[in-house]
Amino acid sequence: KWGLETEWIAKTIIHKPETTSTQHIAHQLAQEGASHGTIVIADEQTKGKGRMNRKWHSSKNEGIWMSIILRPAIPPHKAPQLTLLTATVLADVIMKETNIKPYIKWPNDIIIHNKKMSGILTEMQAEQDQVQYIIIGIGMNVNQDIKSLHKEIHTKATSLKMEADKEFDIRYLVQKILQQFEKTYELYLQKGFPVIKTKWESYGFRIGEKILIKTMNHEWKATFSGIDHDGGLLVRNLDDGKMEKLYSAEIDWFRE
Ligand code: BTN
Repeated sequence: KWGLETEWIAKTIIHKPETTSTQHIAHQLAQEGASHGTIVIADEQTKGKGRMNRKWHSSKNEGIWMSIILRPAIPPHKAPQLTLLTATVLADVIMKETNIKPYIKWPNDIIIHNKKMSGILTEMQAEQDQVQYIIIGIGMNVNQDIKSLHKEIHTKATSLKMEADKEFDIRYLVQKILQQFEKTYELYLQKGFPVIKTKWESYGFRIGEKILIKTMNHEWKATFSGIDHDGGLLVRNLDDGKMEKLYSAEIDWFRE
């Protein structure tokens, strides 16, 4: 009923009208042996999870709240590449369906007109340098209006409807995202991360510009150079001019 033309993704779709968090359900299913490509999707989440333990507001039928279970044969340190891959998939679909160019804010926020439209939460279960499973959670604001988005506390948020001035069919978008995901994933397995890196950088937010970096409890300024061949963030520290590579940090725009 989802009208999907895919080889392996979404052969099993678990659809919940309401749930706590699709991440939570996906973890349970993965632990019970759910296969590569299984999808959990909800109309509404009561305990949507964002990165850094944040809440993710997931209002009923107004957005895409879904998790993808993957069992890739890659070492755990390559897992972040799949997050970057997912961000390029979302950006490609948004661009194609709206003609608006989205940006990706490292590592994986989708930004339109300086506001966040979509986010990705990747969680991994690994044992002895072997990935057991990876769950990629995708949250996309689709048909919310400004009132509904005001409930978001942490970021300036927007929705596809607000940016494109029309309503979108959520099922259709899900279909496009999953099809594009499968294609991109296959390309990544064949050609490796460089293809994703090039694509990511074409959407990269603030490449070549000054940014503010927050690592643990430290804030500093740098120039954003791009991403490395393994997905790390490459920045030049403005204080000492040194190039640094980061794997976990929050970045923000820097206003003089
Ligand atoms: C972020 O902080 O930007 C990531 C947000 C991820 C939200 C999605 S919605 C589907 C899945 N289930 C959750 O509870 N979170 C992710």
